[in-house]
Amino acid sequence: MDRYAVIGNPIAHSKSPAIHAAFAAQTGQCLRYKAILAPLDGFAACVAEFRAAGGRGMNVTVPFKLEAYALSTRRTARAQAAGAVNTLAFDGAEVLGDNTDGAGLVRDIQHNLAFPIAARHVLLLGAGGAARGAILPLLDAAPASLCIANRTPAKAVELAAAFAREDSPSPTGCGFDALAGRRFDVVINATAASLADQAPDLPHALYAPGALAYDMMYGRGDTPFLCAARADGAAHLADGLGMLVEQAAESFLLWRGVRPLTRPVLEHMRAQLASG
Ligand code: ATR
Repeated sequence: MDRYAVIGNPIAHSKSPAIHAAFAAQTGQCLRYKAILAPLDGFAACVAEFRAAGGRGMNVTVPFKLEAYALSTRRTARAQAAGAVNTLAFDGAEVLGDNTDGAGLVRDIQHNLAFPIAARHVLLLGAGGAARGAILPLLDAAPASLCIANRTPAKAVELAAAFAREDSPSPTGCGFDALAGRRFDVVINATAASLADQAPDLPHALYAPGALAYDMMYGRGDTPFLCAARADGAAHLADGLGMLVEQAAESFLLWRGVRPLTRPVLEHMRAQLASG
């Protein structure tokens, strides 16, 4: 049986084993998928041990995505753009590093939520690893504009400059105050504010009619960002549970060549989350 794993620290609450088990059952793929807790200074050793035991691939989560990037012998374009790797595929001596987080986000928005990004004005909040991973997939979806806004403005300006394009509108970067008076069709929270039970401190009236507010985080109820977005008039709200399931599906596709149906798995995860 082919073996896969998710590796991180902490890892006990990872939903990836349940998601991949559901994908395997649904597609009839014969595989095992487990969670591995790596010591903070023992990521590479754990990966080497799993490979030596015949492991075929891994998902990588906090705090090892940069180490996974460094460990890869080949990287996909989206992993290079993200500067981080959340999916490893082992093939002989080769370690392929991919990043499926941004693709999972865009697929959740466009496919599951049926909200096309093309020709829309998109605001991405945050300039850390989560935001960086989303930029290339968002630009590939051909928005009318992509604005990256961050609490520390210089980081957003720098990130936008790193993704400047010649063939289509380049992203722009700014601080939160500079958003005053502007309106967006899609606002994505990629800040870590929700971890501290906070919402980013944004100007009001950011949402155009019919706009979507999307939080990469998820929880039992609405996140602080989504609560603030509702109060500010966002027409549609979504949390990051769909992104979680979609990034897993992208990894599964890379490893197995089969795209699983995500809707039943997402519905199951949502029901589990609601029941605590
Ligand atoms: P991640 O990998 O999850 O993106 P990170 O690289 O540490 O984590 O980045 C955290 C992001 O969340 C940063 O953009 C940070 O803003 P700063 O660059 O100004 O630090 C943002 N962030 C964290 N807490 C925030 C808060 N309470 N309000 C707004 N932004 C916040």
